[in-house]
Amino acid sequence: MDWRIPPTRSLKGRLRVPGDKSVTHRGLMLAALAEGESTLYYPLKAGDTLSTAQALRQLGAEINDAGEHFRIRGVGLRLKEPPDVLDCGNAGTLMRLLAGLLAGQEVFAVLSGDASLRRRPMGRVTLPLRQMGARIEGREGGRLAPLAIRGGGLRGIHYEMPVASAQVKSAVLLAGLFAEEDTEVVEPAPTRDHTERAFRHYGLPLEVEGNLIRTRRADPFQARDLVVPGDFSSAAFFVVAALITPESDLTLEGVGLNPTRTGLLTVLKEMGADIAWAITEGEEGEPVGWIRARSSRLRGLSVDPKLIPLMIDEIPALAAAAAWAEGETYIPNLAELRVKESDRLSAIAKNLENLGVPVEAGEDWLRIRGGRVQGGVVEPFHDHRIAMAFAVCGLPTGVVVREAEWARISFPSFFEDLEGLRG
Ligand code: S3P
Repeated sequence: MDWRIPPTRSLKGRLRVPGDKSVTHRGLMLAALAEGESTLYYPLKAGDTLSTAQALRQLGAEINDAGEHFRIRGVGLRLKEPPDVLDCGNAGTLMRLLAGLLAGQEVFAVLSGDASLRRRPMGRVTLPLRQMGARIEGREGGRLAPLAIRGGGLRGIHYEMPVASAQVKSAVLLAGLFAEEDTEVVEPAPTRDHTERAFRHYGLPLEVEGNLIRTRRADPFQARDLVVPGDFSSAAFFVVAALITPESDLTLEGVGLNPTRTGLLTVLKEMGADIAWAITEGEEGEPVGWIRARSSRLRGLSVDPKLIPLMIDEIPALAAAAAWAEGETYIPNLAELRVKESDRLSAIAKNLENLGVPVEAGEDWLRIRGGRVQGGVVEPFHDHRIAMAFAVCGLPTGVVVREAEWARISFPSFFEDLEGLRG
């Protein structure tokens, strides 16, 4: 489905974005492992997280819709052998975290997904999980899905992660809940810490010493309600939309402001963005607050490579901002973008070109010369964040977004919400 956006002169109002995808995946998984019933409040109900709910049902958890929420009855640490292949759809987080969980279970399970997910690297989780003792087979020696897992009998490992990836960290920590001896993960750079926060919420074993995270075998634990904040990564598109559209003033409410996610705010501020935010609740769990963004004259800059893991899903949104900034924006340290839902580095470069923006793409960097954006047609390349970022990039000039339905993977009401804020 094509979505046609006419030239937009102003965006005004307040918006509550859907629930956080990362927190919803973790909330569902841990509630499914707990003993008894709990409610997951305001989860994301979109392509990726519905895949997670469905997979967990096949593993024995009861997950029911309760209006905007999910009511979950957990299995008490022991998952059931699934009767069929677990379809992870488009969701890398689901496949990698579930591989960790299943590594600890005495069941046989096969994980597969859509064409994009079957191209994404799985060796980064199969390698440490095999070291822990899980039996995992997959295409190309376990580097690609489908993955066949027979878990159980795990031992703890000390694992120095070669890439900064919250999914790898989480897979190993989840497996560590079923291992003899301690499991330790060392991160090369800080990544989103939702798993650590969720472990604390459920009282699961966790120690953090700098960049080392340690867990150990868990005892059965009680179910506990969890409130999911709005997804910062979804809010990011509206923040950038307000900055680049004339006469705009948007406030995003109930947004997760976990500091391991908000690198984009630091960069935008440095680019001259008129933007403010505050944490208002949830200090012990996930910090939540508001963000206000107004039309701004942005300046290009060279992004600090250390910030990239703290804004790994916001590079498409940053590219949209850079297209409208004066001067050049250089974004380094982007190797991981090549293995997201699409090759995002190429997808960004291609769409900037479609909108007439001069761009150079290296193996792991982008250089964008901002200031001259034309209307045009943009292509999501089967990637939700590319669809949304380039819808935003083309707002002031007008744009046609091909295959706009890809936004449903993480933000089903994105285009309608954008429409509703038009001044
Ligand atoms: C996620 C971690 C990130 C991110 C993804 C969600 C998570 O992936 O890009 O959208 O929930 O742990 P990597 O761990 O591969 O960087």
